[in-house]
Amino acid sequence: TRSLRVALLGAGTVGGHVARLLLEHHDELAARAGISLDLVGIAVRDVNAKRAVDLPAELFTTDAETLIQGADIVVELIGGIEPAKSYILAAIGSGADVVTGNKALLAEHGAEIFAAAARVGAEVYYEAAVAAAIPIIRPLRDSLAGDHVERILAIVNGSTNYILDRMDRFGDSMEDAQRVALELGYLEADPTLDVEGYDAAQKAAILAGLAFHTTVPAAGVHREGISSITLEDVESAREAGYVIKLLAIAERVADDAGVEGVSARVHPALVRRDHPLASVHGGNNAVFVEAEAAGPLMFYGAGAGGVQTASAVLGDVVSIARRHLAGGVGVGESVAADLPVHPIGAAETRY
Ligand code: NDP
Ligand code: HSE
Repeated sequence: TRSLRVALLGAGTVGGHVARLLLEHHDELAARAGISLDLVGIAVRDVNAKRAVDLPAELFTTDAETLIQGADIVVELIGGIEPAKSYILAAIGSGADVVTGNKALLAEHGAEIFAAAARVGAEVYYEAAVAAAIPIIRPLRDSLAGDHVERILAIVNGSTNYILDRMDRFGDSMEDAQRVALELGYLEADPTLDVEGYDAAQKAAILAGLAFHTTVPAAGVHREGISSITLEDVESAREAGYVIKLLAIAERVADDAGVEGVSARVHPALVRRDHPLASVHGGNNAVFVEAEAAGPLMFYGAGAGGVQTASAVLGDVVSIARRHLAGGVGVGESVAADLPVHPIGAAETRY
């Protein structure tokens, strides 16, 4: 029987559900992919750690390097830069395809990873890296490949959207809303990543690069967080017919000399109450794409959560398996244009 060996790196919030679903839905996924997807091992830091999801003990190892060498598909769900980056490059080097949800790594080192994959014809799929369960990477890369994307306005950080939404709908102060968001597990243990816009800036870099077929480093994304927003700001915005949202914005712009380029930025913005993004409540995410031929499109749903994110990861695994079966040779990430990144701040703040 034909099968693909799947190695999982990380069994935390997301990885635990990916492993469970690969095992529970093994036959269904095999039928859908046309090939058996066999989970051959799970690399973690501590094989004895207590886990939210019950998984067979014999699958666990701390030896990620050896696990990677015997795999056809490596699913990286460790997070952070190292050792995730070395593991992904080792997987590509050993002839495996890669699935990852690691926005921090791709925003920082995506160009290097995609170039390494392209050299050997390996695939790197990362649907979970932006807006978790919401299909947005493949729509931008594939479905809209024949269109001309003009602008993306996105709510890609669920915890800050939750905080601003509480202030708007329940009249919470910034401090109270942040406390509730932390208690409910929306905010990271170190809230700075969310509140100061770092997480959204990583996602903005990935979206901008994809939409405009170029490379946008996270450092090229102008970033302002929500920490200076007060309840008075939120109330004044409401009286004027707006709601304050932390937006990730990517658009085609020209600099002062008229050179066309890309602007990617994250900052609080005034969104008109009748704009579709104004109705994105709680911890949800949404990506609003304006394309020349398609017109406006909105992608909406859960932007975080272990099982929700696992959906996107498994979709990537099945897609890669189908390519294997079709004998498809990977083409890696194609960067057609080389548009400069213009460091534009919060020039426009109303949408
Ligand atoms: P967790 O922190 O919950 O899990 C990380 C896992 O990686 C743990 O199982 C941990 O092992 C393992 N790990 C850490 N360091 C190493 C190492 N050096 N070698 C081997 N294993 C290691 O992370 P999440 O599941 O929340 O996130 C995973 C990825 O998915 C990240 O890139 C994140 O940005 C992304 N993502 C997460 C979302 C979410 O809602 N959580 C949404 C979208 C994307 P151990 O269990 O032994 O400690
Ligand atoms: N901290 C992130 C958020 C988690 O609040 O959206 C998902 O990437």
